[in-house]
Amino acid sequence: MFAEEQAFYRNEIVKLKNDLNAVILAHYYQDDDIQDLADYIGDSLELARRAKAAEADVIVFCGVHFMAETAKILNPDRMVIIPSMEAGCSLADSCLPNDFKKFREEHPDHIAVTYINCSAEVKALSDIICTSSNAEKIINEIPVDKPILFSPDKNLGRYLVKKTGRDMLLWNGSCIVHEHFSEKKLLDVVYEHRDAKVIAHPECEDTFLMYANFIGSTSALLKYIQESPADKFIVATEPGIIHQMKKVRPEKIFVEAPMSEGCSCNVCPHMKKNNLENLYLCMKNLSPKIEMNEELRLRALKPIETMLAMS
Ligand code: 13P
Ligand code: SF4
Repeated sequence: MFAEEQAFYRNEIVKLKNDLNAVILAHYYQDDDIQDLADYIGDSLELARRAKAAEADVIVFCGVHFMAETAKILNPDRMVIIPSMEAGCSLADSCLPNDFKKFREEHPDHIAVTYINCSAEVKALSDIICTSSNAEKIINEIPVDKPILFSPDKNLGRYLVKKTGRDMLLWNGSCIVHEHFSEKKLLDVVYEHRDAKVIAHPECEDTFLMYANFIGSTSALLKYIQESPADKFIVATEPGIIHQMKKVRPEKIFVEAPMSEGCSCNVCPHMKKNNLENLYLCMKNLSPKIEMNEELRLRALKPIETMLAMS
């Protein structure tokens, strides 16, 4: 996009934000220009909390669909709009409500702890929702004699099994971004940058996480690089977060972790469905809008509120 076009969209978005009494929430994986326009940037948990507390008339959610849906579940009286309705998530797509219902029925004695990266229907069929920043705490609070089903991310699930010592049954889902980091190529990058710390999101495969000096949610990674005395980091998550890392620590060096194909598949194609143009259009037309059946909303709200109370 040309600089003039970019400036046009930026100005119009700021004007519309005031006219609509809107708040713009953005995830760290959004494009830099969207992050720079946002009122709040955060990880899934922080954005859910911001959405719940929002008093603006319109919540403009710059993230993927399940995040905007969670905002609507938590704050139904606000209008929630999203730049692209096609901004999905491979984890949410891997877990269809009917299959998940069957999974639960096959294990009636298990409690279902479900990662927030899922649809409202799957949330409604779960007992407790979690995010990567509170999952460990939530699992540790479940009585040890209670068996657990963890869905839909098997990599986060495996990581949590190791951290908590709980033998959970895992749904077979994964993130198309985080599963592509290459262990083999990482060894070369680590060798080249021997002074760097490896930091990773727990959606990465366990063979990759073995090399991480620190593992955490997007916000936890951002906090770590600020507090660590190290000057260089190899970052194994979607590179959108590096924009904030450079803003808060411009003197430090951030190297993107390598991918298996030498491709740019560390960029989340779903998150990147949102851009300045469709952000402007969604605010101008108040569409696409997240709509939800009230009965479903109330059922999905319950496990999210349980999460918020436990974290
Ligand atoms: P965070 O909650 O850590 O921001 O993760 C969201 C996500 O989709 C990671 O791929
Ligand atoms: Fe979903 Fe992975 Fe994209 Fe996160 S990075 S939104 S888990 S596809």
